[in-house]
Amino acid sequence: MSTNLSVTYSGTRELEVVDLPVPKREFRGKTLEHAVILKVIATNICGSDQHIYHGRFDVPKGTVLGHEITGEVVEIGRDVEMMEVGDIVSVPFNVSCGKCRNCKTLHPEICETVNEAAPIGAYGFDLGGWQGGQSQFCLVPYADFALLKFPDRDQALDRMLELTYLTDNLPTGFHGCVSAQVKPGSTVYIAGAGPVGRAAAAGARLLGAACVIIGDQNKERLKVMEKAGYETADLSSSVPLADQIDAILGIPEVDCGVDAVGYEAHGLGEFSDKEVPEAALNSILEVVRAGGAIGIPGIYVGSDPGSKHPRAKDGVLDLAIGKAWTKSLTLVTGMAPVRNYSRELMQAILWNRIDLPAVMNTEVIPIEQGPDAYAKYSAGSAKKFVIDPNGMLKK
Ligand SMILES: NC(=O)c1ccc[n+]([C@@H]2O[C@H](COP(=O)([O-])OP(=O)(O)OC[C@H]3O[C@@H](n4cnc5c(N)ncnc54)[C@H](O)[C@@H]3O)[C@@H](O)[C@H]2O)c1
Ligand SMILES: [Zn+2]
Ligand SMILES: [Zn+2]
Repeated sequence: MSTNLSVTYSGTRELEVVDLPVPKREFRGKTLEHAVILKVIATNICGSDQHIYHGRFDVPKGTVLGHEITGEVVEIGRDVEMMEVGDIVSVPFNVSCGKCRNCKTLHPEICETVNEAAPIGAYGFDLGGWQGGQSQFCLVPYADFALLKFPDRDQALDRMLELTYLTDNLPTGFHGCVSAQVKPGSTVYIAGAGPVGRAAAAGARLLGAACVIIGDQNKERLKVMEKAGYETADLSSSVPLADQIDAILGIPEVDCGVDAVGYEAHGLGEFSDKEVPEAALNSILEVVRAGGAIGIPGIYVGSDPGSKHPRAKDGVLDLAIGKAWTKSLTLVTGMAPVRNYSRELMQAILWNRIDLPAVMNTEVIPIEQGPDAYAKYSAGSAKKFVIDPNGMLKK
């Protein structure tokens, strides 16, 4: 009988679904009294998981993948005060203690205590050794600080295919827009029509943007956004991005830019088929107006041995920083501090202020289909795959 089916990493483009023991509230020989065990209700496949899948972010073999986790509390530690068994909770993908200097100043994305190697922790990466949640059950530390408890169990289960995006894509995209200083009337360019870029577009609307333009080389993903009523820029075309923006706005620049691409970026136009790690960033530096701001949720890494570009192997990119500098641009980098946004974004979902189904284009799959969905995502699918490991999602 199965106990805890989990998607695990075996090597580049090699995943397995294996049955593991249900986790205990234990980590490196210590019992965690601040932790809970969750029965996972929804756990999504992310572009960040794709970096692992592509062999571009190393994790030990056997790691349980997945950092986008929503679940039901089935066990609580002695020191957990705010949660009860049966609560339905959203897990921010950042692992954070709530006690260190950075957590106390609302920077849970750079927690200083949960990863000995660097001030950054997340589930399902090699960032502190925390196992992921693409599984039937998982361990979540520092539950009182980290978790967002949904106010009503039935409502949470009813709206799960939207609320599941509170673990990462919605707050991440929204943070990109807040960092880019999007406000009522702004014009916004979002590079990347993957799930983060699509959620960022919805976030920009929520912040009152007048015009949101989303660019990608992937036509299928752009079609989803056109259908949802957004402007698009086809970056595989030979028409330069600035000219495409000019055709939409009557001016070849925007107020705000969001990079929802990261270090596996492809070039524009004739270079669409080639990986050009700085392509998305440079395109944004070019089209954001003087005095504008750029949010960069797209991931860039300190070391990328899998890159074909010698300098990018050491995390060094050819940025057009000179041209950008003279424009007094503001650039904001880093992981998203998910929990800073999750409560308000939950309300935005529950009060129908944001149309996530239109942009996320969700497909629910059983956990056994996890590896297959990674392959489809990698091939450019316009779906966002949500794993239903315990058969609890409404179809
Ligand atoms: N900062 C954070 O907290 C955080 C959280 C989640 C994801 N991420 C990162 O955000 C990035 C996007 O995530 P995702 O899940 O949407 O990934 P994704 O891989 O699904 O989407 C990236 C999209 O960018 C497109 N693209 C490639 N080159 C481009 C270019 N030059 N200009 C515009 N578009 C281009 C690709 O075709 C793809 O559709 C990834 O790097 C991911 O790791 C960061
Ligand atoms: Zn994610
Ligand atoms: Zn901390």
